[in-house]
Amino acid sequence: MPSKIFSVSIFGFECRRVEVEVDILNGLASITIVGLGDASVQESKERIRSAIKNSGAEYPRRKKTINLAPADLKKHGPMFDLPIALGLLMQSSQLPSNCMDNTMAVGELSLSGELRRIPGVLPAVSYAKQIGFSSIIIPEENSAEASIISGINVIPAPDLATLISHLRGEHKIPFVKTENYGETFTPADCWHFEDIRGHENSKRALTIAAAGQHNILLFGPPGSGKTLLARSFRSILPPLSFEEAIEVTKIYSIAGRLSTNEALICSPPFRPIHHTASAVSLVGGGSIPRPGEISLAHHGVLFLDELLEFQRGTLDCLRQPLEDGHISVTRIAGTSKFPAQFTLIAATNPCACGYFGDPVKACICTPTRLEQYRKKLSGPLLDRIDLMCYVPRLPFDKINQLVGSEPSELLQKRVMVARQLQRERYSDGEKSGPRTNGKIASTEIRKRCGVSDEAMRLLKDAFLKFHYSGRAYHSILKVSRTIADMENSKEILPQHIAEALQYRPRFENANE
Ligand SMILES: Nc1ncnc2c1ncn2[C@@H]1O[C@H](COP(=O)(O)OP(=O)(O)OP(=O)(O)O)[C@@H](O)[C@H]1O
Ligand SMILES: [Mg+2]
Repeated sequence: MPSKIFSVSIFGFECRRVEVEVDILNGLASITIVGLGDASVQESKERIRSAIKNSGAEYPRRKKTINLAPADLKKHGPMFDLPIALGLLMQSSQLPSNCMDNTMAVGELSLSGELRRIPGVLPAVSYAKQIGFSSIIIPEENSAEASIISGINVIPAPDLATLISHLRGEHKIPFVKTENYGETFTPADCWHFEDIRGHENSKRALTIAAAGQHNILLFGPPGSGKTLLARSFRSILPPLSFEEAIEVTKIYSIAGRLSTNEALICSPPFRPIHHTASAVSLVGGGSIPRPGEISLAHHGVLFLDELLEFQRGTLDCLRQPLEDGHISVTRIAGTSKFPAQFTLIAATNPCACGYFGDPVKACICTPTRLEQYRKKLSGPLLDRIDLMCYVPRLPFDKINQLVGSEPSELLQKRVMVARQLQRERYSDGEKSGPRTNGKIASTEIRKRCGVSDEAMRLLKDAFLKFHYSGRAYHSILKVSRTIADMENSKEILPQHIAEALQYRPRFENANE
């Protein structure tokens, strides 16, 4: 009877169970791996032979056949090294035949038999628990991320020799201790709003954006403080809930971006993107799909500085994920769906010279140049931005003042109160759906937001006057709802609509 070890294959964001069957038959010494393994799976033969020999065990000499089932699922990565090695040791009676009952194994072997850190351990452990395994063997270096999941025994193996002795019952490896991360939050290490002088309007707009997870565009002349404001946005964001933190950490684990001692990512990610970034790096891809920047910004912020310097095609890639909260990446090997629910912060100059709309400095752009510059920003992308805010150059007495504005800590508390109200409002619907005004489906917002008659009249007048799109109509309602939540108002009142309308200036009339 062949030995059977269970492992896991990760494709995109999805885990699948893999059965590693190992058989040793009479015949010339050889090893064959079947079951659609890629080059890294085929190369594992060499690593496994050396690792077994260097761990004090015997590498079986006869004809060895390894089958990775299901046979129609493409397997990639070196994580099958460990289950194959264990299968060979079991089949050659060097390990008890029942030592892997109800246990999964993942890990890459070095030639000396050490277990190397691999990406995707957190989703693998979570999946093993979900499908009913009682234990999982992982590389010791991945222990931190695995410590988040309770209800499954996680065995952290430093090397094959130690693991062999554990499975023979000689020296037991202690299970990874489950840590309680429920309350952990490290304050964001960034600029704070109190360090930035003036810009009360922009700070208010950013607070609304944080409270309702609305996309925001900051535009204004060079050096006025747009980048500074955007980078301080992190300081007013609430910590991630435990479920959100696990989702974010899973993405970073799959992308191989968790450091050895990083267990759970508790603060919302902030991903500043350079304008030379390619579409693939932004949305994800590769022959085996990897999460892109928009997924790494899940539950956090994607910051596009100098927005109009980006390629138009790159920006257009953001349209679908901004709407759906996820991205589907299709490659020959299959389609992967990654979560991508992020707040977009964009910053730009209003024109090529930067001074269009400045009350003092004259803009020197010709109308054609102005149009060419603006053309890069597609209408549909602009339509998905809920708040637009002009960041002016500050007069001397403002920039020179010593007293700061309201501290980030206070604004963060306000944001947290508004988020709690939204969570209560939207938590009766779909279990894992969005819980903020900015991310809720447009079909939901009109039903759930409660607008006073007077406020509705004001919205209608504005709609008729400015010829808003259907999306803009919903966006105004969503922003008004957030402003009302920040004041703990049950209904959207005219002043909330009026303020929301202020954040929809026509881009051309920057300074009006
Ligand atoms: N309101 C402010 N309070 C404190 N410092 C400021 C303020 N505005 C600008 N600065 C200073 O000016 C520098 C430039 O600001 P920032 O990079 O945010 O400008 P910007 O609007 O992004 O310019 P650009 O359009 O050229 O990118 C900051 O690093 C900061 O030192
Ligand atoms: Mg800047």
